[in-house]
Amino acid sequence: MNPILRVENLSIEFGGIVALNQVNFQIPRNQISALIGPNGAGKTTLFNCVTGFYRPREGKIFLHGARQTSELCGLLNPGWLSRDLGLLQSLQARFFGGSHVLNHLGVARTFQNIRLFQQMSVMENLLVAQHTKLKGNLFSGLFNTQAYVNSERTALEIARYWLDFFELSPYLNKLAAELSYGQQRRLEIARALCTRPQLLCLDEPAAGLNPQETAELSRLLQRLCAQSQLSILLIEHDMRLVMEISQHIIVLDHGEVIAIGTPAQIQQHPQVLAAYLGTEYG
Ligand SMILES: Nc1ncnc2c1ncn2[C@@H]1O[C@H](COP(=O)(O)OP(=O)(O)OP(=O)(O)O)[C@@H](O)[C@H]1O
Ligand SMILES: [Mg+2]
Repeated sequence: MNPILRVENLSIEFGGIVALNQVNFQIPRNQISALIGPNGAGKTTLFNCVTGFYRPREGKIFLHGARQTSELCGLLNPGWLSRDLGLLQSLQARFFGGSHVLNHLGVARTFQNIRLFQQMSVMENLLVAQHTKLKGNLFSGLFNTQAYVNSERTALEIARYWLDFFELSPYLNKLAAELSYGQQRRLEIARALCTRPQLLCLDEPAAGLNPQETAELSRLLQRLCAQSQLSILLIEHDMRLVMEISQHIIVLDHGEVIAIGTPAQIQQHPQVLAAYLGTEYG
């Protein structure tokens, strides 16, 4: 396997609750991988570690990026200067937490519960997501330098590209709050993609969608992976969607990995069937 992400011995607790216990797995590059498991298994917690929202008690997460390999947990506890981040971002990670720093390295995510700027337009949501990519400072913003104008133009082009991809172009001036639920889910993915990630983490993107919207999402995610240099890690309870679009599956239960394999292997795995017993898949 040529992994984009490698997780080693990841453990985190909340009070007495062991949310993740010695979790080990890797996910392949330029493919769709799924992270599944019953409610409370630790899936979102794992996303929160990979995307810099939580600092695990123990373990390492390696992102094998196109240009460099970074150990993400170490980056969340940098000294005054990390070689991978530079001074400004080391300070930001130290004092404000790590999510935007990991986004800078190419990790983007969506949330289990939609988190859009509801009172901003669709286009504004996509432009705000790119603010860290704008090549500017107070001076270039005030004087509208050529570099600033160019990077603003690029941000608009990228936003238009993803709006078109997710079939949201007709709604670009609408408020996010005015979109249907399915459109809001797609806008969240478009917003994550505007940050130009190498690894896209989607937390239950089909939750709350009707069967037609889920089929549409399935088509879009497969097209996305086929035509871009992107690796996707997907948390999802919709087993039909998972089995249809993912090449690689990791199963968590009670904070531990109980199975790793292809969809065909996972569907016949006795421990997985036992973990899901009583659910639609069991
Ligand atoms: N910030 C937190 N504080 C306290 N407990 C937490 C926190 N985050 C997660 N947990 C606990 O860790 C465990 C794993 O939760 P997590 O949200 O990762 O599960 P999940 O697999 O995403 O479940 P679901 O499928 O329901 O979304 C649960 O017992 C949860 O209550
Ligand atoms: Mg969750």
